Amino acid sequence: NDWVNHSIGKVNADNIKNQISTLEAYGTRRHDNAKGKQAALDLKAKWETMIAAAGRTDISVVLFNHTATPMPSVILKINGNTAPNESVIIGGHLDSISFSGQAPGADDNASGIASITEMLRVLLDIKFKPQKTIEMMAFSAEEVGLVGSNDVATNYANNNKNVVAYVQFDMTNYKGSSKDVYLTTDSYNSNDLNLFLIELMEHYNKTGSHVFSYGNTICNYGCSDHFSWAQNGYNAAFPFEASFNDSNPYIH
Ligand code: BES
Ligand code: ZN
Repeated sequence: NDWVNHSIGKVNADNIKNQISTLEAYGTRRHDNAKGKQAALDLKAKWETMIAAAGRTDISVVLFNHTATPMPSVILKINGNTAPNESVIIGGHLDSISFSGQAPGADDNASGIASITEMLRVLLDIKFKPQKTIEMMAFSAEEVGLVGSNDVATNYANNNKNVVAYVQFDMTNYKGSSKDVYLTTDSYNSNDLNLFLIELMEHYNKTGSHVFSYGNTICNYGCSDHFSWAQNGYNAAFPFEASFNDSNPYIH
């Protein structure tokens, strides 16, 4: 709990904004465009630079290559100290898409990747050493059918990996509704994990200077990468930026 309160005060909105701009500048991060692959290689390099600057040898980043797309996914691992075989995973998709070809994808999903990167920066800043292994994932080819996450989640399941929780960050920076966070309640999600996320928010609200308001919403279909994890038997959640009907009309 001390770690939580220590961390949240360190989150810097400008870092998130700057990385969204950097990701927008590719013009597109379409999975079958060279820019998509480049965005993945650059994200790996960015995370590696942050890790090296923090002097951490217990953290690694790898590319996960796919057969159905030239764009790899990016996987970062912070090895757990007491339960390294149990993983807590946060993720989002790095690719973008649009009908016109121009797909800066600021909110869908530069925002989620920028949020995850800021979480990494804060955890490095406070020299956090987790008990369980923490993994951060940037998936390719979500926009054409959850291709990257489906490959990775299937691979983890086939290898009997113990993933205790998967939380998706896809579209995190548009205030379409009055509340801050909307937990999706699709039946494939884990109700227990949603309840745990509520507990976390209540903890922040009680003890910190930040107050989260939150509600529920629903996709009504397998709307993002968390569905791949749910389908492979893992506890998944997808806290979203707005109520589904009020979500960003300029997503791509
Ligand atoms: N971020 C969207 C999903 C989304 C959109 C959630 C609006 C909530 C509100 C995601 O990147 C996406 O477009 N998903 C596809 C899924 C499909 C390719 C399996 C979709 O919704 O069509
Ligand atoms: Zn998305």
